[in-house]
Amino acid sequence: MYIIANFKQNKTFAEYELWINEFIQATNWDALNDDIQIILAPSFPFIVTLASAFKDLQASSSKLRIYLASQNVSKFENGAHTGEVGATQLKDFIDYAIIGHSERRADGETMTDVNMKVGLCVSNDITPVVCVSREDEFNAIDDSEKSNVLIAYEPIDAISTSGAGKPASVSAVKEFVETLGLNKIIYGGSINSSNVRDYLNQGFVDGFLVGSASLDPVEFTKIIGTINQAYV
Ligand code: PGA
Repeated sequence: MYIIANFKQNKTFAEYELWINEFIQATNWDALNDDIQIILAPSFPFIVTLASAFKDLQASSSKLRIYLASQNVSKFENGAHTGEVGATQLKDFIDYAIIGHSERRADGETMTDVNMKVGLCVSNDITPVVCVSREDEFNAIDDSEKSNVLIAYEPIDAISTSGAGKPASVSAVKEFVETLGLNKIIYGGSINSSNVRDYLNQGFVDGFLVGSASLDPVEFTKIIGTINQAYV
């Protein structure tokens, strides 16, 4: 079960420090089920700092398992691409990368870009979490990579910061998973500690991509706690 915090373009360095401190304290690490992977996706400048902070914390407690993701990677391997950050540069610090988020697609990212990014992630041992809001976006993922990626279903009108932000119904998520011919999917869109319960124990949801509700460490901890209880 993946629980991914997508911080988007939010928080300063000082705010990240506060968030991490509160989050570490609020979470009951000893009770955390081994199947749960907590993945934080901060903005690029904070990835290295968080990676080294977690390394130190993990040295003192093996239960404290936190993985990092980037919110994007360059579609280029390396070279003259001002402003880009590549998979080869990120691989020492992250295990996952969010690719193809609808907010990036709205900014012009194409499926060709998504596939280039997926390929670079996979060859650098980074697991891509590819966001799709429609069946054709899933179909456009290179067939050779489909088994190497995690798919996150994020219907655009379910994302809390765009439009009304009404979460997709459990049956709509199930239908989408079946349409794609998958067994399981990560769901994202207006997930919070009150509604996450609805999607648990359904068999076809193997994770959540959490945007707005992840910005508050206590709320994010509550989401984790609710998911963790589903294992008891
Ligand atoms: P939301 O964002 O939880 O604020 O709806 C999810 C996402 O965009 O990944």
